Amino acid sequence: MIGDLYLQADYCQKTSPLYAALYNYLLELYQARKDGRADPALCAFFETVDYCWHGRSFTAWFERPLLLAGAIHEQVLQGNAPELKSFYASCGGAFAPDQANDLAMAIKTTLSQCHQQMVPFLRQETIQTNETSRGLAWLLPVLAHWQKARPAITLIELGCSAGLGLVADGYGYQVDGPAGQVWARKGDPCFEITLNGMGAERALSSLAHLPDLSAAMGARIGCDLNPLDCKEENQKRILEALIWPDNAPRLARLRAAIEIQARYDVRFERGDMVACVEHLSERGVADTPMVVVFNTVASCYLDDDHYAALRRAIGAAFNGTWADKDCLWVEFEMPRTGEALPDFAEGQEQLIKVHRPDGQGGLHTHYFGAATAHPTEIEMF
Ligand SMILES: C[S@@+](CC[C@H](N)C(=O)[O-])C[C@H]1O[C@@H](n2cnc3c(N)ncnc32)[C@H](O)[C@@H]1O
Repeated sequence: MIGDLYLQADYCQKTSPLYAALYNYLLELYQARKDGRADPALCAFFETVDYCWHGRSFTAWFERPLLLAGAIHEQVLQGNAPELKSFYASCGGAFAPDQANDLAMAIKTTLSQCHQQMVPFLRQETIQTNETSRGLAWLLPVLAHWQKARPAITLIELGCSAGLGLVADGYGYQVDGPAGQVWARKGDPCFEITLNGMGAERALSSLAHLPDLSAAMGARIGCDLNPLDCKEENQKRILEALIWPDNAPRLARLRAAIEIQARYDVRFERGDMVACVEHLSERGVADTPMVVVFNTVASCYLDDDHYAALRRAIGAAFNGTWADKDCLWVEFEMPRTGEALPDFAEGQEQLIKVHRPDGQGGLHTHYFGAATAHPTEIEMF
C-alpha cells in the first residue's frame, strides 16, 4: 500500500492538488503504522480497512488508493464528513495546496469517525466509472451505416457500467470539422469534439441525422458484471465518489447525463458479456430490423480466450437468430496485443472498430477511426 500511495500521490501532483495532498497524508499514516508509530486514534480505521480487503485481490497499483479515496469521497457526498466538505469542490468547497495541514486534520477526523460507514464501499466496490464523453465513438459509425435504410434499432451495450453510453444520442454536442465547419446541438452534458482525417467531412454531415436515429431507437439494453442503476441514490453516489472531487466539469457531465438517462427506458442485464449476448439472442429479444451491439473500454478487460468467445458469440447471433436483421457491432477499445492492424490504425490509443456478419458465419472487421479514451478529437480513417 505504501508504494501504491506513493505512485498515486505522484500521479496526482499535476492533475489534482486535493488528491495529491490526500494521498501524501495517507502515505504518512501508512508509513507511521509500518514503523510502529501508528496514531492510536486511527487503529480502528486500519483494522477496518484490513478486514474489508482481506481476501480481495488487486492487480493494478492504483486500485487501493482510488478505492480508499472513493470511500472517503462517498462519506463527504453523504454529508457524513462535514469537516472535509469545505475542501471538496464536488460539494461546493475548494482546496489550495497551502491548506494541506488543515486537510490532513480533517481527513484524520473522517477516518477515525466514519471508518465503519466506509465498509460496504471498501468491501464490494471496484474502480467502476462511466465516461460520458465516449458517445460519438459509437454513434458516428452507427449513423454512417443506419442512414442508408433508417430501420428501427435494438441497442445493446456490453460492459455498460451505469448505461450512460446507451443514451449518448440524447446529449449535446459541439462538433468541429476539419475545414472550420461546425455541427452543434444544445444539451447538457455538452461535448466539444473535433473530427479530423479522411472521413471527417462525411462523419460531420451524418450528424444531421442524429435526431432521426434517436427516434428509431427501440429497446436500450445494458449488460455488465455489476450494472449500476442511477435511479438508486446509493449507486449513483458510487459513480460520483469515484470521480476526483476537484474534476468539477466531469462530475457535472456525469450528473447531467444521469438526468438525461432518467428520461429513457434503459434495461439492465447482470452478467458476463458473452453470456449476455448468448441469452439475449436466444430469447429473441430484438424485434427490430436492426441490432446494434457496442462496447467502449470494456472488452479490453477480457483475456484473449474470453475475447475470442465474445467474437464467436456475436458472430453466432448475427449469423443465426438475428440473421434476418441488419447487425452491427461497434467497439471503442485499445488495440489488443498482437492484433494485426492496418498501417493507418497503428499507434493509436483507442480504435473504433466496426464488425459486420461476413456471410460465412463469421465477422468482417472495418477500422473506422481512433481517439483517446476521453475523446476531444476523433481521427476518422
Ligand atoms: C472501464 S468501465 C467502462 C464503462 C463504460 N463502457 C464506459 O465507457 O464508461 C468497464 C466496465 O466493463 C464491465 N465489465 C468488465 N468485464 C466484463 C465482463 N466480462 N462482462 C460484462 N461486463 C464487464 C465492468 O464491470 C465495467 O463496468
